[in-house]
Amino acid sequence: MAYQPAPNRYKEMSYARCGRSGLKLPRLSLGLWHNFGGVDDYATAREILLHAFDRGITHFDLANNYGPPPGSAEENFGKVLSGDFKSYRDELVISTKAGYHMWDGPYGEWGSRKYLISSLDQSLHRMGLEYVDIFYSHRFDPDTPLEETMGALSHAVRSGKALYAGISNYSPEQTLEAARLLREMGTPLLIHQPVYNMFNRWIEDGLTEVLAAEGIGCIPFSPLAQGMLTGRYLAGIPKDSRAAKDHGFLKEPAVQQRLPQIKALHELAEKRGQSLAMMALSWILRLPEITTLLIGASSTKQLDENLKALEQPEFSDEELAQIDAILKA
Ligand SMILES: NC(=O)c1ccc[n+]([C@@H]2O[C@H](COP(=O)([O-])OP(=O)(O)OC[C@H]3O[C@@H](n4cnc5c(N)ncnc54)[C@H](OP(=O)(O)O)[C@@H]3O)[C@@H](O)[C@H]2O)c1
Repeated sequence: MAYQPAPNRYKEMSYARCGRSGLKLPRLSLGLWHNFGGVDDYATAREILLHAFDRGITHFDLANNYGPPPGSAEENFGKVLSGDFKSYRDELVISTKAGYHMWDGPYGEWGSRKYLISSLDQSLHRMGLEYVDIFYSHRFDPDTPLEETMGALSHAVRSGKALYAGISNYSPEQTLEAARLLREMGTPLLIHQPVYNMFNRWIEDGLTEVLAAEGIGCIPFSPLAQGMLTGRYLAGIPKDSRAAKDHGFLKEPAVQQRLPQIKALHELAEKRGQSLAMMALSWILRLPEITTLLIGASSTKQLDENLKALEQPEFSDEELAQIDAILKA
């Protein structure tokens, strides 16, 4: 039977304006870095995508190299787009990126115009799309003039291959310069995608100020520290978890090192009546600069749990101080 999205999908989700743009994003967005590649179970991947849309998640985040193998997450997403999501393209915000290694030779990574435009063409082909909504420079390239990298993003927008431009993993200074260059080119910088979670708070050191001043949206990735800030590893390393997979980016020693903090945070979350995952996500939403949380999920159950974080964002000063103390210990 043909997929019919839940009729109430827009009633329960809240949407936030992305910086000073006209684009609204759901407060929770779904990324396809892990669990959606060629090595993963397609039926489960599809089920998570449909469930996300049913719950009002309109924003799906990809990159050229997501898989493994690289490119396969875009291919799988393309399958869902040409099938279940076929009638809903205009209800979706789809992003992709280029910056990390994608193919051999000098034009297969970093920030040249040559690489970015070729990579975007490949991404569009893999997903069967005419355009993406957001095209990102995935990382700053110290060897390419920033004018060239931003010029490539602006070109992508002007040629209709992307609707908006974004950057990821840029420092506050690089972000300011990128925003200035893009503004001069008539293509505003829509959004920044930095890592941000309880274990990695680097954006508090200058980036959020730049984003607020410049009117740029913020979509923090790995808000659950790849699963460490959940109940996933409280009783060891489950066989089906990211830390147990050869291709998983999270490694067991990192989990072991964080375990005392994870346990202390879990206890605090219980006192708040939340799961650790919910508390870790709510905690990020305390910052007004955050547009949407970019989570990953390997099941619809995880997705549903994470969506509950949107219901309880408030923290008392005492709770925030307790979290700070745990993170400093
Ligand atoms: N721009 C960049 O450089 C960059 C880098 C990394 C990621 N990203 C983007 O950010 C997205 C999210 O990154 P991420 O996947 O690392 O985010 P994350 O939300 O920190 O981690 C997701 C993982 O946590 C576990 N998890 C999620 N919810 C859970 C729950 N309720 N209970 C127990 N475990 C739970 C799952 O691990 P299991 O698979 O073990 O179940 C899931 O795969 C990516 O898909 C990608 O789009 C961007």
